[in-house]
Amino acid sequence: MPALSMGGSSKYGILFSLLTAWMLAMGTVIEAGGGRRERHNILLILTDDQDLVLGGMTPMKKTQVLIGQSGASFSNAFAVTPLCCPSRSSILTGSYPHNHLVRNNSLDGNCSSQLWQKFQEPFTFPVYLQKRGYQTFYAGKYLNQYGDPQVGGVQHIPMGWTYWLGLVGNSKYYNYTLSANGHEEKHGEHYEEDYLTDLLTNRSLEFLQKLSQPPFLMVLAPPASHSPWTAAPHYKSAYSTIKAPRTGSFNVHGKDKHWLVRQAKTPMSNTSIEFLDNVYRERWQTLLSVDDMVAKVLGQLESLGLMSNTYVFYTSDHGYHVGQFSLPIDKRQLYEFDIRVPLLVRGPGIKPNQTRLEPILNIDLGPTFLDIAGINVSQTPMDGQSFLPLLVNKTHNSSWRSDFLVEYTGEGSGGRDPKCPSLGPGVSQCFPDCVCEDAFNNTYACVRTLSPINLQYCEFADTQAFVEVYNMTSDPHQLVNIAKTVDPSLLEQMNQRLIKFQACSGASCRS
Ligand SMILES: *[C@@H]1O[C@H](CO)[C@@H](O)[C@H](O)[C@H]1NC(C)=O
Ligand SMILES: *[C@@H]1O[C@H](CO)[C@@H](O)[C@H](O)[C@H]1NC(C)=O
Ligand SMILES: *[C@@H]1O[C@H](CO)[C@@H](O)[C@H](O)[C@H]1NC(C)=O
Ligand SMILES: *[C@@H]1O[C@H](CO)[C@@H](O)[C@H](O)[C@H]1NC(C)=O
Ligand SMILES: *[C@@H]1O[C@H](CO)[C@@H](O)[C@H](O)[C@H]1NC(C)=O
Ligand SMILES: *[C@@H]1O[C@H](CO)[C@@H](O)[C@H](O)[C@H]1NC(C)=O
Ligand SMILES: *[C@@H]1O[C@H](CO)[C@@H](O)[C@H](O)[C@H]1NC(C)=O
Ligand SMILES: *[C@@H]1O[C@H](CO)[C@@H](O)[C@H](O)[C@H]1NC(C)=O
Ligand SMILES: *[C@@H]1O[C@H](CO)[C@@H](O)[C@H](O)[C@H]1NC(C)=O
Ligand SMILES: *[C@@H]1O[C@H](CO)[C@@H](O)[C@H](O)[C@H]1NC(C)=O
Ligand SMILES: *[C@@H]1O[C@H](CO)[C@@H](O)[C@H](O)[C@H]1NC(C)=O
Repeated sequence: MPALSMGGSSKYGILFSLLTAWMLAMGTVIEAGGGRRERHNILLILTDDQDLVLGGMTPMKKTQVLIGQSGASFSNAFAVTPLCCPSRSSILTGSYPHNHLVRNNSLDGNCSSQLWQKFQEPFTFPVYLQKRGYQTFYAGKYLNQYGDPQVGGVQHIPMGWTYWLGLVGNSKYYNYTLSANGHEEKHGEHYEEDYLTDLLTNRSLEFLQKLSQPPFLMVLAPPASHSPWTAAPHYKSAYSTIKAPRTGSFNVHGKDKHWLVRQAKTPMSNTSIEFLDNVYRERWQTLLSVDDMVAKVLGQLESLGLMSNTYVFYTSDHGYHVGQFSLPIDKRQLYEFDIRVPLLVRGPGIKPNQTRLEPILNIDLGPTFLDIAGINVSQTPMDGQSFLPLLVNKTHNSSWRSDFLVEYTGEGSGGRDPKCPSLGPGVSQCFPDCVCEDAFNNTYACVRTLSPINLQYCEFADTQAFVEVYNMTSDPHQLVNIAKTVDPSLLEQMNQRLIKFQACSGASCRS
């Protein structure tokens, strides 16, 4: 009997080709050992700036039913760095910032830079999935500097994407430019034609409708709930009585915290608070269109018979604060409100209506997608860990991590902020009332451990080598920095753990 070959003219060859085509159509692959494994579809919905701690999931009523109650809700999901471009780079590469080297939202901090394109993009999760036969679709915000003429403009289609609809630059709702498979597509400000969240929904419905060959990977990255917080017309009057929540740290002076936080004026002025309340309400309004997106896309999956074979993930790039420690509105801080994110997952083998407590990181998404596709994560540079075994209940969580690293490099301008000169050079994001949200010396690394102790330990790279430590059991709002009172041997132990984490890569980040 002749050996089977793809291109052979023998009847066995033809038979084999037909069989292969059939199996591809059925979304099945032949494993090396001869076993068969179904290749499930993957959908990731990634929002911008959506917090967990301040109630950011409250407007997502349909999403909570369609994903959370139909699967698992993770109450301890974290971003390993609380800023858009570094966090999105962590999601794409499955790695900590000290390994992907994207430091901030600028080109010179490697955000979508040529060096990123050359050294990191080839190792992003879509590349592995595409090689494995997935049709890959990206629609929405990518990395903040995407589309800049200095790094290839709209012609640059990041590696790994079969269908590409990338937003040029940072989140917007109207008056934006897209790269549609490398071609410039400009949009104005007509709701019916241009509202970005809805446009992304519509294009993803079309993609699914036309999809001829599963499996697929689809990433939808809407602009909500990022500034400029432009709601769809029919949602502009929603939540008219909602105010920013007065959490335990709202309008509280962080007097024992690092330099930048100590500058925040407390109490905040009434006009600042009014501004914060308006922003908070507008954030929720923009999220209502994302909730519609989830319902429509999942409805389409259902009607096309794809739902039972698709894993759906819902998360955000990082959290957000609105008045906590009298910081107006932003992310970039080490506290829970900025590093915690929503995470909901449904899919084959996942028991409905579960609440999970294991700490899951944004760097675990890539490894989990690879695992779903049958790719061995240990053979990639990724630092994260697949949580598929936890989802489908194959392993007990005793071997899961109990601590992790959070790291951030502060952004600051070279000169003084012309509107707020008294603050000295090297600060940024000074609004409103000249309260600055970032500085070059807001550069820190933390170990966040959840068990057996529930603690956060952070070191700053500033002139004071400032240390912040929080007992998360007794002080969930992080009001009291215990760095000066806690047992010094614990500080020593945490410092050693931090040094190990900051040097980790691949498997050593998982142990
Ligand atoms: C940017 O990335 C390149 C290669 O990945 C690296 O050599 C360089 O040091 C990075 N830049 C910064 C500022 O980390
Ligand atoms: C869109 O651009 C037009 C023309 O420049 C401008 O008048 C309008 O205010 C912009 N709308 C939004 C929502 O940014
Ligand atoms: C999306 O599709 C709906 C239904 O066809 C349509 O009413 C709406 O105007 C579309 N929106 C955009 C921004 O394309
Ligand atoms: C600010 O608001 C508080 C509470 O609503 C009120 O008691 C206070 O008088 C206001 N202050 C000023 C200066 O308007
Ligand atoms: C999930 O639990 C909620 C509240 O306990 C219940 O109302 C809902 O019907 C459950 N959903 C599913 C899919 O089991
Ligand atoms: C592990 O699962 C058990 C229930 O089986 C739960 O009580 C425990 O909190 C979980 N541990 C973590 C770290 O989530
Ligand atoms: C994955 O790769 C690692 C490193 O090459 C290897 O030790 C391990 O056995 C592999 N796992 C599986 C399930 O093939
Ligand atoms: C999941 O695992 C836990 C503990 O190992 C067990 O009690 C439970 O019955 C399992 N659930 C399913 C659906 O297999
Ligand atoms: C971004 O990072 C680069 C490299 O560390 C640095 O040179 C640049 O000043 C940073 N940009 C801002 C706005 O802080
Ligand atoms: C941080 O930078 C600011 C602005 O340059 C400076 O005034 C401040 O002293 C620095 N703080 C520390 C602790 O390094
Ligand atoms: C944290 O607080 C809890 C509850 O008050 C206490 O039992 C524990 O000893 C504290 N841990 C540390 C490290 O201070």
